[in-house]
Amino acid sequence: MTLETPRLILRQFAADDLDRMSELMANKDFMRFSMGPMTREQTQSFLDKVIGWDRDGLPSQFAIILRSSGTLAGYCGFFHHEVDGKMEIEIGYRLDSAFWNRGLTTEAARAVRDHGFRDLKLNYVISLIHPKNHPSRRVAEKNGMTLEWQTTFRGFPTFVFAITRKQWVKLRCEI
Ligand SMILES: CC(C)(COP(=O)(O)OP(=O)(O)OC[C@H]1O[C@@H](n2cnc3c(N)ncnc32)[C@H](O)[C@@H]1OP(=O)(O)O)[C@@H](O)C(=O)NCCC(=O)NCCS
Repeated sequence: MTLETPRLILRQFAADDLDRMSELMANKDFMRFSMGPMTREQTQSFLDKVIGWDRDGLPSQFAIILRSSGTLAGYCGFFHHEVDGKMEIEIGYRLDSAFWNRGLTTEAARAVRDHGFRDLKLNYVISLIHPKNHPSRRVAEKNGMTLEWQTTFRGFPTFVFAITRKQWVKLRCEI
């Protein structure tokens, strides 16, 4: 499955994305508000995981490709997490800092959200965000999500933003 937006192509990851993804995931800006930069081996595990989800037909991550240059600039898509004892589907994203603040992640996140509700028939999606991660909070808000509760995730204070299918339908009617 490939998603298209005015400026982006969101495609499934492939094994030969390892070099570029290793470069991105070794970068501290790209990995802000995470456990930190990743080694090539850890990036390989990330790719194995998301390619496995694709193969199994599960909600998964997309590579963000800039139409203008063909550059693989980051990822946006679904993760599977246990949050407060319940399995949740999260929309998560990271973008090369060279392209921040152009609305690109919002464009990607909206396409992923629409895909989740329209094609995958999800009922509820969340985004897990550190309270100090203001850009990520803005992306979640622009994605129609609202702050639902605060928790601790992987040892960090975390805001849980969410949108229900019902809220998404209402949002679509208002556009
Ligand atoms: C979060 C991230 C993906 C956002 O990508 P992006 O393409 O720059 O996002 P957008 O351009 O769509 O939107 C960013 C918004 O944050 C706002 N913003 C940027 N820096 C900000 C700051 N320091 N304080 C408050 N708002 C800020 C921008 O103004 C914009 O909001 P606006 O449209 O209302 O003006 C990017 O910053 C990133 O990769 N960060 C590191 C990884 C990360 O934190 N991922 C999320 C983990 S939960």
